[in-house]
Amino acid sequence: IRVGILFGGKSAEHEVSLQSAKNVAEAIDRDKYDVSLIGIDKTGRWLLPDQARYLLDATDPKLIRLNRENERSVALVPQSGGALSGLPADASGAAVDVVFPVLHGPFGEDGTVQGLLKLAGVPFVGAGVLGSAVGMDKDVAKRLLRDAGLPIARFMVLKAAGKADFDAIAAELGLPFFVKPANLGSSVGVHKVSDRSGFLAAIEDAFLYDSKVIAEEFVEGREVECSVLGNADPIASVVGEIVSNHEFYSYEAKYIDESGAALIVPAEIPPATSDLIRDLAIEAFEVLACEGMARVDFFLKADGSVVINEINTIPGFTRISMYPRLWQASGVSYPDLIDRLIGLAIE
Ligand code: DAL
Ligand code: MG
Repeated sequence: IRVGILFGGKSAEHEVSLQSAKNVAEAIDRDKYDVSLIGIDKTGRWLLPDQARYLLDATDPKLIRLNRENERSVALVPQSGGALSGLPADASGAAVDVVFPVLHGPFGEDGTVQGLLKLAGVPFVGAGVLGSAVGMDKDVAKRLLRDAGLPIARFMVLKAAGKADFDAIAAELGLPFFVKPANLGSSVGVHKVSDRSGFLAAIEDAFLYDSKVIAEEFVEGREVECSVLGNADPIASVVGEIVSNHEFYSYEAKYIDESGAALIVPAEIPPATSDLIRDLAIEAFEVLACEGMARVDFFLKADGSVVINEINTIPGFTRISMYPRLWQASGVSYPDLIDRLIGLAIE
């Protein structure tokens, strides 16, 4: 079976994608799968295997930092070649049998790439167009979860920086509250706000990444996550906990500061709480039209109740990432997980 591992991308999570893809490419069973690397540089140029390899190898785990300058510059790849021609027009002429998009954020996790693959007739791992699109947009995802009666944090949508009213938000959501770009991941552009000046800086930064920003109530609680795997009849992993020693589980805590966060797998929580979280993870997966995989992130409050924070339809696959770790702890090894995900894509 020929598998295209698609990685990089134009989003601010480009570097995270490179790390995720490296791990997937290393762990995939080469006896069973013929792997082609397909890279997308930061300008959106598609790179076929040789250049894609260069893109992947040029990344250093320590370089997994946010660099907006870098985002606008041309990526570190030779200039020749690299075009969409690598993608088959239809499945019959396919250079690959299935694509594993290991892309995070907009232009990859949001339904755009999924639409292209669907149009090209190439099966792919993970959620389809709808699930990817709604999962990426925190505003839309929350409204669907709320409509299904699932517990979410209170939030407000901000459409323009100039119209954002700190007093109105603080009155509605209390202090502190979070400001987040509606469509991104890895906590890029996310800020915890406790006063007006912090708010202005947070809004300015968040709107750099998206034209829609959400303000969200601060939920006091432990951060716990659950991985889901499957199509029509999905299963949930054990629950894991993130203990961050930063102000919150920020980009820095996730990827830069090596001791920024500890992952406790399985989380030390009562069995009934774990069952509740696993059930909610599957419900959220279904409500949000997911397929294949997703990681559902929660807050667990002191009274034992939980709130769904968000869903990730292409969760991180880096060495420290929760999605594969939770499956490992549930008896599915990293290579088996990749195998199962590919199986779900082509079933
Ligand atoms: N958005 C990052 C990759 C995650 O959810 O793991
Ligand atoms: Mg995320």
